[in-house]
Amino acid sequence: MEKLKKIKEDAQKAIAEAKTSEQLYQVKVQFFGKQGELSLLMKEVGALPKEDRPAFGKEVNIVRAALQQSYDDSESRLKTAELADKLQKESLDLTLPGPHLSLGGTHPIPRVINEIVEILSRIGFSVRSGPLVESDRYNFTALNIPENHPARDMQDTFYIDENHVLRTHTSPVQIHTMENEKPPIRVLAPGSVFRCDSDASHSPNFHQIEALLIDKKVSMSDLKGTISFFIKEFFGSEIKTRFRPSFFPFTEPSAEVDCSCPLCKGEGCRMCGQSGWVEIGGSGLVHPNVLKQAGVDPNEWQGFAFGFGIERMAIIKYGINDIRLFVENDLRFLRQFES
Ligand code: DAH
Repeated sequence: MEKLKKIKEDAQKAIAEAKTSEQLYQVKVQFFGKQGELSLLMKEVGALPKEDRPAFGKEVNIVRAALQQSYDDSESRLKTAELADKLQKESLDLTLPGPHLSLGGTHPIPRVINEIVEILSRIGFSVRSGPLVESDRYNFTALNIPENHPARDMQDTFYIDENHVLRTHTSPVQIHTMENEKPPIRVLAPGSVFRCDSDASHSPNFHQIEALLIDKKVSMSDLKGTISFFIKEFFGSEIKTRFRPSFFPFTEPSAEVDCSCPLCKGEGCRMCGQSGWVEIGGSGLVHPNVLKQAGVDPNEWQGFAFGFGIERMAIIKYGINDIRLFVENDLRFLRQFES
């Protein structure tokens, strides 16, 4: 009984003095855990006279229960304090700047394509595509480009075989669309085109966007209105559009499209060769021969078309001075187009 009393007092004192839940747990192990002093004492019960054993056993259990109670009280007090302490120390400073997320961006070519498509989709145009390898008929003949036309020259065109070429422009999509769909038609065809040409302002693989509108009573003024609207939306409302008479086999009349130089606002700079104007592509009313070739009756339907160079538009919009930058993947160039 003496030993029991001593264990009880020592244990109570140690419980009271424990400063952390870890220390407290060690007290339990030492005094009333499975191998603790209390259990060892219980093993000595055999040394007692038989009649004293039940009373002693009962006493040990009372002490164990009392210690457990003190332990539980102490534990919940310490754990609460430790949690509060932890929350205090680990509190987040929400005013600190977050980690920098590098989001990447869209390459200027698809970026310009997306923007053109977005603008023209607002006035009813939707996107079509065509193959990059075209037969002679789609790339030339059906577009009213006769057999001896200089555009067919080996110097410009990549021939796959006698009858097939890498398309030299997006205009063949006009033919595919008219063959597959009934007018009225309002389509855009952005995509890759190929020409045997390469220097600071020419790439053998570049991009165009073709527009085709077929409807009743379409005139030059519809073409001019559409292109002027588009150019103001794309380059800015202060940019003027100019149409210069020109010739394309697949349009009649034909016009080249210039806009006032967005870089110098028409004053004259290196980009516009001091002229104040930059050329962005060709346009015109669809030639009756082209309509006929694609199965559309020119007596019932008319149309306009235009084809703009994507690289040219990106160069003008962003003031880029070398077409090769688009394909070199120099991160210093590309990072300027991060979203
Ligand atoms: N296909 C012509 C080229 O690559 C550009 C062009 C001119 C497209 C006039 C047209 C157009 O749709 O009407 O040079």
